[in-house]
Amino acid sequence: MRVLVCTCKDKIKLTNLDLGPDVKIEQYFDLCKEKPAIDSDEKVVIAGCSPNLLETLFPNLNCEFVNLYEHIVLIGHPIEKARDLIAAAVEKMKVVTPIKAKIFTIEKKSVVVIGGGVAAIEVASQLAQNGVGVDLVERSPFLGGTVAQLDRLYPEGTPYSHTLMPQIAKMLESKNINYYFNTEAKDIKGRIGNYDITLQTCSRGVIDCTHCGKCVDVCPVEVDDAGKMRKAIYYVPTYPDIYAIDFNACTKCGECVKVCEGKIELEDKIAEQNIDAGAIVIASGLNWYDVDKVTEYGYCRLPGVMKTLEFERAVASGVLKPKKVVIIYCAGSRDANHLPYCSKICCFLGLKEAKLVLDRYPETQVYVVAMDMRSFGTFEYFYNKLREKGVTFVKGKPSEVIKRNDSLVVRTEDLYTNELLEIEADTVVLSAGFVPDTATFDKLGIKLNGDFPVLFENADLGNTALPRGIFTAGAATFPAGVADSLVDARKAAFSVLNLFRQDKIETKQPNAVINEDLCSICRMCIGTCPYGALSIVEEKLKVNEELCMGCGICSITCPVYASQLELFNPQGLSHQIRTLIKKGDVLALLCRWSAYNATDKAAYDKYLYPENVKIIRVPCSGAVDPSHVMDAVNNGAKGVLIGGCYPDACHYARGNFRAKAREQILKQNLDLLGFSRDIVRLEWIGKDEANKFVEIVKEMNK
Ligand code: FES
Repeated sequence: MRVLVCTCKDKIKLTNLDLGPDVKIEQYFDLCKEKPAIDSDEKVVIAGCSPNLLETLFPNLNCEFVNLYEHIVLIGHPIEKARDLIAAAVEKMKVVTPIKAKIFTIEKKSVVVIGGGVAAIEVASQLAQNGVGVDLVERSPFLGGTVAQLDRLYPEGTPYSHTLMPQIAKMLESKNINYYFNTEAKDIKGRIGNYDITLQTCSRGVIDCTHCGKCVDVCPVEVDDAGKMRKAIYYVPTYPDIYAIDFNACTKCGECVKVCEGKIELEDKIAEQNIDAGAIVIASGLNWYDVDKVTEYGYCRLPGVMKTLEFERAVASGVLKPKKVVIIYCAGSRDANHLPYCSKICCFLGLKEAKLVLDRYPETQVYVVAMDMRSFGTFEYFYNKLREKGVTFVKGKPSEVIKRNDSLVVRTEDLYTNELLEIEADTVVLSAGFVPDTATFDKLGIKLNGDFPVLFENADLGNTALPRGIFTAGAATFPAGVADSLVDARKAAFSVLNLFRQDKIETKQPNAVINEDLCSICRMCIGTCPYGALSIVEEKLKVNEELCMGCGICSITCPVYASQLELFNPQGLSHQIRTLIKKGDVLALLCRWSAYNATDKAAYDKYLYPENVKIIRVPCSGAVDPSHVMDAVNNGAKGVLIGGCYPDACHYARGNFRAKAREQILKQNLDLLGFSRDIVRLEWIGKDEANKFVEIVKEMNK
């Protein structure tokens, strides 16, 4: 093994370093400039500046970095500590599994776009114009998604068609797109560059159409389609230019068949087919939150209480002419019992509905009851204009909506006047938040963190890539308006084009590897993997290389360490700790994404800490095993700090929560073994929290 030691231009004076006969030590005056050749397959230890810098200069290596500059020189620690850190790194490298390069060939250069709204149309259009074959898969019979259901877009109130129709027209110019309507992606197999997607298509009912509209005239079934009445056979003026049957409502009476000038089949058949692609873009948009769950507002129970979309469609079609309207904001949003988050766009939707009704019926009294108005940027003008137009804004969260005589009554506090109000109205509009289309993510095996999928920055696979190189666009990953969705769609298209420029992708991201001789297929690791990368294939535990993100959590879960992360395994960490830690030391096992960076900052900001604090960088706090703490304790450590990312900020979704669970067990075990339970501490330390890190290790050193 080679050990490359940099003097950092004579700032590190390390002489007489002897690491045994198999270790070749090379000293460099300025490693960053000299950049010695290193074979990407050989194991090396590089000691010099922070790994944060060295990793960029020496990427894709089987390497352990030792931070001599920030952890010794800048904070005035003795050079003997450097010897221990280097020796410990060497011991670790002796037993870790080297990283194997993974090569994914891009076998298919076509893309499947899931969705039919503005984002999906934009992605498909951009890709097709650049010569990429696109299969656009839309679950409804028509294009347009949520936007096609609206009357108008905020803030100017332009009709939806001003945006959507030119977009569709542009897309239709391209011959590179195949369209699948009434179709869902049922299953997906394969990997980046080579997917096999099973599509399930429900019949449209209308096979051939002259667009005469006679079928609609004779259809006896009326359907309330989110506030707008239509028949069971219907048409949406977007694309394709052919009617469709809503088989959930159709009674199959056959009246339409009798008058049809084209061809109608009243059989709701389901057909399956497989298509392939090199990449997938999910642009499945968003769903409205089920506001009937907010029972106190009486949706479904009290006539006149409606959702924003229903209100918009009913007013726009002339069915509803309200005299007094109360729009309740955050109906179920920012509420621990419903949606804990702010959906970002519903404030504008509420303002848009206020404008819509006042444009048509200026005499209508409009109240907006809102905890807060989040009208960022130029939307503040929109908000102010509505105030000038006479909309009354009340600050508060209504407690309930009741019916009294013939009126609806909204009971609310008014935080401006400190009064309790009862506002009578004939119409109450609930501005609810949005939820992601989890059904599509479930089918694709994409795990959610909270309510939305976790996106990863992966330099090899594209910036918006999900674990296996599936891209997202628009409101699929968080509620977004039309403008934001279009920008996001172009980013997704760019990522796919970037991917397709290459014939293969090589990545040296560490993956988990399974030692089949040790694995008893107990399956404990399968459920702990945040990415679903582990599965049993032909009675063997297998790691899906496209899904594994290299957190190392599975190896800690395995009772016999049969699963190991390349370049970081429990045995290696154990060897490193046993070599490094001496009686009275404090060991700091710090997450590379957060707490470790705080130690670099401590060095630059001159927050000094005792020299017996020894720092080891780990991929995630979830990759630390209780046995590692015991290794340190058995060597006489007076404290072990595990520093991880703050809750919800773990780079690997839930690694820090697993660390938290283990901390409790560890403390109980320490009690049983007669040690102080305070010997181990798990702390959330942000990358800039140098002060916090130093305070903690000083406390542990007392
Ligand atoms: Fe920092 Fe998981 S990545 S704790």
